[in-house]
This record gives sequence, structure tokens and C-alpha cells, in this order.
Amino acid sequence: MTLLQLLESRLALALESVLGEPTPAAVTPAADLRFGDYQSNAAMVLAKRHGKNPRALAQELIDKIDLAGIASAEIAGPGFLNFRIFPEAYALLATELLADPRLGVPQVGEGKTVVVDFSAPNVAKPMHVGHIRSTIIGDTLCRVARSLGYNVVSDNHIGDWGTQFGMILFGWKNHLNAEALEADPIAELVRLYREVNNAGKEDPEIRELCKAELVKLQAGDPENLGIWQRCIDLSKAGLQKIYDRLDVQFDHWLGESFYNDRLAGLVDELLGNGIARMSEGAVCVFSDETKKPEADPFKVRNESGWGDFPMIVRKSDGGFNYATTDLATLEYRRSQWDADSVWYVVDHRQSLHFQQLFDVAARLDLDGMDLRHISFGTILGKDGKPLKTRSGDLPQLADLLDEAVAAAGVAVAERSRVETDAERKDLAELIGISAVKFTELAHHRSSDYVFDLEKMLALQGDTAPYLQNAYVRSRSIWRKLGDEAPAELAPVSLAEEQEIHLARLLVRFGEVVPTILDDFRPNLLANYLLEVARAFHSFFEACPVLKAETAVRDSRLSLCELTSRVLKQGLGLLGIRVPERM
Ligand code: ARG
Repeated sequence: MTLLQLLESRLALALESVLGEPTPAAVTPAADLRFGDYQSNAAMVLAKRHGKNPRALAQELIDKIDLAGIASAEIAGPGFLNFRIFPEAYALLATELLADPRLGVPQVGEGKTVVVDFSAPNVAKPMHVGHIRSTIIGDTLCRVARSLGYNVVSDNHIGDWGTQFGMILFGWKNHLNAEALEADPIAELVRLYREVNNAGKEDPEIRELCKAELVKLQAGDPENLGIWQRCIDLSKAGLQKIYDRLDVQFDHWLGESFYNDRLAGLVDELLGNGIARMSEGAVCVFSDETKKPEADPFKVRNESGWGDFPMIVRKSDGGFNYATTDLATLEYRRSQWDADSVWYVVDHRQSLHFQQLFDVAARLDLDGMDLRHISFGTILGKDGKPLKTRSGDLPQLADLLDEAVAAAGVAVAERSRVETDAERKDLAELIGISAVKFTELAHHRSSDYVFDLEKMLALQGDTAPYLQNAYVRSRSIWRKLGDEAPAELAPVSLAEEQEIHLARLLVRFGEVVPTILDDFRPNLLANYLLEVARAFHSFFEACPVLKAETAVRDSRLSLCELTSRVLKQGLGLLGIRVPERM
């Protein structure tokens, strides 16, 4: 049980005895440590309903609550309850955590299945920085949910059946450079796509030829299907390389094409139960007119007021849409995986699409599932505008990673103590990728941020290297001890302010991890880890470890050990590995 849960359960008992009925109430970490470690506004919230004065109720609660050996309590202001945890309680909890491989993370997700839909690049189109955000955030959410006991299904819903294949097929047949394809398939496919796309802008004849290729593909022409399949295979292999570098895994890669043969039946179902209807030759879902137009994703404002903005599930030419596929995908996830929730980690520009999707899902009785669109903002260049390459294209994910690793290589050469070239190379890869990930995860996902390698790699700052350095420091003390290291971890005892503060933060790990999922905010964990690292550095500077007398030394060694475990496990949830030296 975390401290917070313990305080809540004790407060609930006190409330029940004072108010005569079971009354759960929340405890939160105190905003300002001068007033205590935790606080509750229960007395203020509940006083009125029970005809009491808030401060008087707070006093009754203080008289009743059993906090023996845990904390002292006092009233503040209009009736806040402030709890100050005893150092001995922190010491005891820290000692207990040393024996807990989960470090106090509660299993709140047990028995629940969540599908995480993330990354999902489009085949033969460049995987760009929008996909980098999705990939990193989505992977972190998978890791966090798994650590909380959820059954997590990660699914890479790649765009492998879009209109881009008209252009790719045309390009493949007319402009393919076989050598380039061999060397770097994704780059060659992207080149074909770009070249044909540009040519088509000028030449309507090319556009027609591309369309004809697409129609042939969709009609099942064996030649086109064969080329398509090769493109998919090559692209997947290329993507896999990037995912390996990023240490990202998927349980499934069920792309859009996987659902092709379910789409016709789905549209019939929507027509049959009246959710969709024909409109100008297309099959559309319209508003069910239960919401105000401002909140209705099927309405759009135009000159004459509010007009319809339907979801088109079958175009007048018989083709199906992105939305149709997403509906079929949702049905599949429900029926095959028994999903309780689906989390879509996708760019904020698709928010209307997901609002419509979730609305139709509810009408299809798929609403027992908790469906979330976890959106995010843009990555900016140093000029404050969306990140672009010099030629004005969207930057490719792989290139950004290379850039980060190259810059990390320079930093490693300057400041690292590792000895061989091979070690330096591995360390640069580790630090470069970590820096990109941490920068992403330390920001609130809906805000835009600037891709600034110098800042991301700084040893002093809110960066991955800063955290990794704290980890290395917390481990190196053990190496220094060598044979003199105690055989077992000693119990923690706390005297100095810096020790107490470090322990206070360390035992909060299990409280912080579940809060990430409240609003899908990995930045809460990122910031917590930075706090831990700062507290560790202050502790390390103020409290001698190796020079202290044995009992104190061993307690401090235990604190170092717990720090390293929290940092390693916490960074692990962010998909970031730690080096043993740097
Ligand atoms: N392939 C899409 C894109 O790059 C993202 C797909 C997201 N997932 C989904 N189920 N719609 O924009």
C-alpha cells in the first residue's frame, strides 16, 4: 500500500466514525512541503452537508484519526488537514521497498485489457516527426499500463492500403531504381512516391494512370497485388529497424488492409440498423441530433448556420474510407481481444475523426469500451515553426535519430570516461536516443516543443543525460566499495534533511506511476524522476557515504541502491535505458 492509500484509508475510518457513514475522501501530496507532506480538504468539502463548521470537523477528524507511527496532523486555514510524515515512517517504507521488485507500484489494471494503437505510419510514405511522438508516447503508455497489471495489446495499425499505392505502383513500373531499393527500400519508395506525386500535380494524364493502377490493385490484379505485397514487406523491414533502435515492440501489425474484406459487411450492417443512409450515392452516417451543434462532430458551421458533416463510410464510387476501416478495426478489437479500452495515440489534427468514430461506436453498441484519443502537438524547429528539413520536407524519423546520435557522439567524446571506441559508439547511440525520448516525454503531450539537440543532451538540465548521470553516480559508489560492500542491504534510517527528502520522494514512486494514466501524462513521471535525481545529488553532496561510520554508511548505501532502482525502473517505463558508466 502506498502512503497516500494508507492515509486515505485511515482518514476514511475517522470520517466514518465522526459522520456515522462510510465517506471516502481524497488525500493529495502537499503542494508546499513547509506545510506537510500530504493534505486533504475533506473537512471543507463535507462540513456543509453535515451541518458542521469545517475547522470544527477537521479537529474532530484529527482527534479520531489513527496515525500512530505514521504522521502528525494539523489544521490549516479554513479547514485543510495537513499530514507530516515521521522520518521513521519514511525510513521503514524505504526499507520495505528494497524488498519489493515492483517498488510499490499497485496492480490497479489487473483483469483489464487495453489496446494501444500507436505509431501507425503509412507504408511507402515517410514516417515523419508526427509519428515519432506517437511512437514514443504510445510505447511509454504500454509500458506503464503493463507495470500496473493491465493486459496490454499493442497494435501497429499501419496505413497499408491508401491511395498512395496508385502512385507507388505507377512509379514502381516506370521509374524504379533497383539498386537504391536494395540499399534503402523505404527511401526508394518515398522517392518514388514524391516523384510521381509531383509529376501528377502538373500532368493530369499521370494522375489518371495512377488511379488506374489503384483500381487494378483494389480489383485484385495479381501483378499489382504482388508489387503491393513487396512494398509492404520492404517497408515493414525498414520500420522494424527503426523500432529496434527505439526499443519498441508490437504484439500485432494489423494494418488497414487486414480489414478489407470486413468493410462491405460492416456498411450493410450500418445501413440495416439505420445508423447510416444513402446520400448522393454515398453511404453516410449523420448526426443523431442529440447534441448541441457546437458539441456535435457531425455538424459544421457554414454561411446559413449549421450544416451536416457526415462520416462517409462508402463513397459513391463504391470505395471505402479510413473511417470505415477504423470501425471494422474497433469491432475486431472488441470481438477478438475483448478490449475494455482502446487508446489511440494520434496527432491532434485527427480529433474530429475520432469524435465521429467514438460516436458511431456508441450507436453500434460498442460503447462498453472506454475509447480515448490521446492527441499531441507539433515538434518545432529552433525558428518556432513546425520542424522541416532544409529542402522544406518533413524530416524523417530515422534522420532525426541519426542527428541526435551524432551529436551525442560529440558529447561523449568530450566528456565521457568510457575507454574504447566501441563503448563510445554504444553510449552515443544510447544517449542520443534517450535524449530524443526524454525530451518528448518531459513535455505535456498537447504542447508543442522545440527540437534542440544541444539542450536535449546537456548534462545539467532537465535531460536524459542528467538522469542517467545520477543513476551512474548512485551505482558507482558500490563499485568503489568493492569487497567491503555489505553482504545485505541495511535498513534505512534517516537523520539529515537531504536524506529525509530523498526517501520521501523515493517512496512516492508507486503513487506517481498510476497518475500517468489519469490523463495520459508521462511528463508527470519524467518530472518526478528529475526531482529524485536532484534530491539524490543534494543528498550525495551533503551526506558523506563512504566516510560515515558503518551503520550510517550502510543506511546511506541502501538509499543509493533504492535511488538507482527507482531511476532505472522509472526510466524503463519511459523506454529509456541506463548505462553503468558514462
Ligand atoms: N496511419 C494514420 C496516419 O498516419 C494513423 C492511424 C492511427 N490509427 C487509427 N486507428 N486510425 O495518419
